[in-house]
Amino acid sequence: MGARSCIGMFDSIACEYDGLNRIVSLGLDRSWRRRTARALLRDDGGASADPGLHDRHARVLDLATGTGDLAVAIASEHLEARIWALDASERMLDLARRKIARLGLDQRVGFILGDACALPFPELYFDAAATAFGLRNFEDRPRALAEIARVLRPGGTVAILEATEPEGRVIGALARLYIHRVLPLIGAIAGHASAYRYLEHSIARFPRPARVLETMGEAGFDRLSCSPLLHGAATLFVGRRGER
Ligand SMILES: C[S@@+](CC[C@H](N)C(=O)[O-])C[C@H]1O[C@@H](n2cnc3c(N)ncnc32)[C@H](O)[C@@H]1O
Repeated sequence: MGARSCIGMFDSIACEYDGLNRIVSLGLDRSWRRRTARALLRDDGGASADPGLHDRHARVLDLATGTGDLAVAIASEHLEARIWALDASERMLDLARRKIARLGLDQRVGFILGDACALPFPELYFDAAATAFGLRNFEDRPRALAEIARVLRPGGTVAILEATEPEGRVIGALARLYIHRVLPLIGAIAGHASAYRYLEHSIARFPRPARVLETMGEAGFDRLSCSPLLHGAATLFVGRRGER
């Protein structure tokens, strides 16, 4: 699927996105996003955690914000941070804007319609960056990671949450059954069969965690780690923007 049809697909499922997300993640997506938001302070296990996000001027990028749930999690975990929420889908952004206003967070979260592969920000603009279920959808992932590295200050943390395919024999087989049989069924029942076929294929095609870490390293991140969530049904990748 090309970049334009991918965004068109997200436009078309925007209204049902949150509800379906809860169902397909078995209700775990919110706690995974909170964990992603907390990881923005992670550096080496806490001993020298980056203090940047306690600064009231700390700037955090939420890339591919969708309906804004990660921006909400970041705002709740980092009370002083200001968040820039970017997405390429107008309808997703519109829902995010309304959600953020309803929660009274509109003074802290700004919205930008834009492309992850050509970020409209100057170099070193952000103290931290995160994306939840975004990376898998970017047409040029190395380019998007290089863009994140460009706009992050040295020492800034990136946290990337993504749906992945578990590798173990038994768990892996169960997960594949879920991804290739249950997800398409949920999509068909919800009236979004092609969007959920896309979800199924994009998870199956997403690179193994070790390869994702390699690509992050090539983009300029160091102190890399990955944590499997629910036996690897999702993975949280964390890195620090190295010095150039
Ligand atoms: C699966 S949703 C994730 C939304 C949200 N981050 C969440 O936690 O649920 C993927 C989002 O990526 C956005 N997206 C896809 N390609 C993009 C691109 N090149 N630049 C910016 N956003 C993009 C889509 O519009 C969609 O809102």
